[in-house]
Amino acid sequence: KAPLVIAVDGPAASGKGTIAKALARHYDLPHMDTGLLYRGVALSLFRFGGDPGNPFEAVRAIGDLDQVDPDDEELRSETVGEIASRVSAYPAVRQALLERQQAFAAQSGGAVLDGRDIGTVIAPDATAKLFVTAAPEVRAERRYKELIGRELDVHLEDVLLDIRARDARDAGRDAAPLVQAEDADLLDTSEMSIERAVQRAIELVEARL
Ligand code: C5P
Repeated sequence: KAPLVIAVDGPAASGKGTIAKALARHYDLPHMDTGLLYRGVALSLFRFGGDPGNPFEAVRAIGDLDQVDPDDEELRSETVGEIASRVSAYPAVRQALLERQQAFAAQSGGAVLDGRDIGTVIAPDATAKLFVTAAPEVRAERRYKELIGRELDVHLEDVLLDIRARDARDAGRDAAPLVQAEDADLLDTSEMSIERAVQRAIELVEARL
């Protein structure tokens, strides 16, 4: 029997990370948040004063990935997400990160990966592909609450502007733009609780088994 590989793609704050984690738990599969790879590159540039406008420096920063602590709070900051979105547009950066993502997806026991291009580029033969989305206003509201919860001083309007800018950049780039794979199931979580969204995600995966 072929290993179960689940691809979860979608825009920022769509709920894809939470859904991917819940699917991994449900099916007892290892999970990779591929956004963390791009965030790790961004964090290295940010800390060591590298230039995110220079693709060569971004590729070089990939060498620092093994030193990045996945629990580092700064990895999840808006600043680092913003830089990640810039460096992820470089084909050389995407190419250099391709192999470790594909190796993760090819584990004999199966895997869950979430990101922007899992169903289209990293694991085009995945068993199940979910494209998780939500209205920008809903995503901004969720991200806002999360940031406020971390006691960060932010404004909802700014969070919405950031989300729209990131959407435009992720969807508009030439290298692996954010698009729903033809054979992916759309999961719009705008009007769903996270519990409901997870339940629906499991139903969609089950229908592909
Ligand atoms: O999902 P997350 O917000 O952590 O991703 C940070 C940035 O990394 C995204 O804005 C996107 O530009 C980039 N990314 C990507 N491909 C992936 C995962 C993330 O281009 N598979």
